Amino acid sequence: MIKDIQEKILKLKKQNDVCILAHSYMSEEICEIADFTGDSYALSLKAKTAPQSTVIMCGVRFMAETVKMLSPQKRVYLANPVAGCPMAEQMDREVISEVKKMYPDYAIVAYINTTAQLKTIADVCVTSSSAVKICRAIPEKNILFIPDINLGTYVKKQVPEKNFKLLSGGCPTHAKIDKEDALSAKAAHPDALFLVHPECRPEVTALADYVGSTSGIMDFAEKSDYKEFIIGTENSIVQHLQFKCPDKNFYPLSKDLVCHNMKATTLVDVLNCLEGKGGEEIVMDEELRVQAVKCIDKMIEYGG
Ligand code: 13P
Ligand code: SF4
Repeated sequence: MIKDIQEKILKLKKQNDVCILAHSYMSEEICEIADFTGDSYALSLKAKTAPQSTVIMCGVRFMAETVKMLSPQKRVYLANPVAGCPMAEQMDREVISEVKKMYPDYAIVAYINTTAQLKTIADVCVTSSSAVKICRAIPEKNILFIPDINLGTYVKKQVPEKNFKLLSGGCPTHAKIDKEDALSAKAAHPDALFLVHPECRPEVTALADYVGSTSGIMDFAEKSDYKEFIIGTENSIVQHLQFKCPDKNFYPLSKDLVCHNMKATTLVDVLNCLEGKGGEEIVMDEELRVQAVKCIDKMIEYGG
């Protein structure tokens, strides 16, 4: 059944010149039919270079918007229109414009998990894998980091030479994990390395052996000589790693580390989108796009 749907998808995407991009949090059966799977940064780079005329994004809305901003000539679809990112909706342009007035000499560094509107007033965008590098590289000494306070706190620690102002947004999925969860996972698996996404709280990342993006965590675990790992990010990564490294053991940090938005997209959604029966085409006002893409272009320039 799954194989039949996958075969239909593979045939249709070739016929219709479609590139399927999947965030690493997608299910195994979606990753199998994707042209490319990766973290937010890698997906942004692919969005720029994919030769196909149409892109289907299996991920959340801001990811599909990023593709459209970078490749306006392409038709871009979000495979399941309900898949949003709650963090991306937390701060709006009007509020941040007011905050900016209070700190006129601060550069606005926006996590890519933001709306296109908010990106129009950001100086530069970052992802979890590029944030430290970019905050170090930009010429500005003062940084207003939005919206994720946990990622911001992590970056601030790594870049002590700069001044940071943080606002209190964040990922509800990662932020609900507390120190007790981390300590009990470590007690249950004393020989495991603890790999954590920087969207987790500082008291959780403080206990980690490695902190990095979804792709960073996967690369680290694959290359490591260790045999056991506690995975401190969305639980799909536990399954992907278990498939990739059958000789190693992977444990979820918590059964609650589930992003329902990332989980919303199914293999059937991808088929429906290809057959013109589902998905949502991303349409963006050109003036908005031109303004919003500037901070993403800067991210690619500095993140290189
Ligand atoms: P990555 O930068 O690891 O892709 O993270 C995106 C995300 O939404 C994690 O919750
Ligand atoms: Fe947004 Fe968190 Fe889901 Fe990532 S895991 S898409 S940051 S809600």
